[in-house]
Amino acid sequence: MSRTVLVLQGPNLDLLGAREPERYGTETLAALRTRLDVLAEALDVELEHVQSAHEGELVDAVHAAWRAGHLGAVVNAAAYTHTSIALRDAFLATQMPFVEVHLTNTFARESFRHTSLLADVAAGVVLGLGPDGYAAALRLLVAATTGRRDTLWAATSLPPT
Ligand code: DQA
Repeated sequence: MSRTVLVLQGPNLDLLGAREPERYGTETLAALRTRLDVLAEALDVELEHVQSAHEGELVDAVHAAWRAGHLGAVVNAAAYTHTSIALRDAFLATQMPFVEVHLTNTFARESFRHTSLLADVAAGVVLGLGPDGYAAALRLLVAATTGRRDTLWAATSLPPT
């Protein structure tokens, strides 16, 4: 069984650190990736990081990960969460398990962010934990796909910023 997890990030997440820091924090995407890679190693999985502002590239990344037999995906589709039938269909077509994550609590924001076209087909959803939410999502994904519930609670932690 593959040990690789796709970490898929949508539009504007490449600007993390600079983008509305009061809302999204000051950690850059590169720094977050580095910290997640450390956690992944402790959980005995590998991460493939993909970020794109282009809906079709996100769809292509899901197809490629599925063809490669990846374990699943951790997905912050950003604004496409609320609009992309194509991304939803990619997960329905491939049946690749994924956990949806958002830095912010989207339910505490504008009403157009209250709808997710992914949430009901996700293995789980993590909201409002900031960058640490990716760690929670990764643990959840690994536990859900491998049955290793220890990955939820093992003392392997996301290194501090
Ligand atoms: C976001 C929430 C989305 O509504 C928004 O479009 C983003 C970021 C989050 O991580 O909180 O770009 O996905």
